[in-house]
Amino acid sequence: SMIIVKTQREIDLMREAGRVTAEAMEVGGAEVRPGVSTKHINDTIERFIRSKGGKPSFLHYSEYPASACISINDQVIHGIPSAKRIIEDGDLVSIDIGVLLNGYHGDMARTFGAGHIRSEDQKLMDVTRESFWEAMKVARVGYRLGDIGAAVSAHAHRYGFGVVYDYVGHGVGAQLHEEPDVPNYGIPGKGSRLVAGMTIAVEPMINAGTPDVRVLRDGWTVVTKDGRKSAHYENTILIRDDEPLILTSL
Ligand code: MF3
Ligand code: CO
Repeated sequence: SMIIVKTQREIDLMREAGRVTAEAMEVGGAEVRPGVSTKHINDTIERFIRSKGGKPSFLHYSEYPASACISINDQVIHGIPSAKRIIEDGDLVSIDIGVLLNGYHGDMARTFGAGHIRSEDQKLMDVTRESFWEAMKVARVGYRLGDIGAAVSAHAHRYGFGVVYDYVGHGVGAQLHEEPDVPNYGIPGKGSRLVAGMTIAVEPMINAGTPDVRVLRDGWTVVTKDGRKSAHYENTILIRDDEPLILTSL
């Protein structure tokens, strides 16, 4: 087992998968508002993916029962969409989508605010997004995995937020999860070297309070131990000699 470097042809195919993933996020995100069920958002996303000839990567992956993960407020990741879970005013709604197209996956997450968002919750979403972009400054040949993690955690800690340690980013390609692990913490200059042609999901999961999480009895939903809110921001990217290419973009 080792890190898989992609050829230009594979990168072209991953760019197509990533584009459909980003389009699915746009379509799903547009449905986030008070009164809507998380199942409605899931079904909207699934229909869109299939209309483009893709398959939802998460459906039946390790027996996961839905096409998207939709995680509200204290739910960090892997929330299972449900007709009974109705979005309320002020909710933070994290949507995570995987698309398999032409044999390759795209993997992407965003957090959306529903209705009126408290300023502290907006700050959590902003800092989570910014921490991803801090990582992009060191996501290129010449740096190491520890540089990416250190960039994410330094930015989140600057605002007193908790960085989730129990779940990490990962390589993406013909498999949804490939080597290497891409933690949101690390020591600058340590870890595996970044190589041109690596395709990885960088996905900060940032909590308002404690970094500690637990899994609900449904076996999937990851929630914060202190019940405070969490945000998620993920793209699949290509490592190059210069700035990374965001594969999950429109
Ligand atoms: N983006 C997440 C990940 O990389 C979602 C996986 S959910 C699962 O692991 F159902 F597919 F496991
Ligand atoms: Co992922």
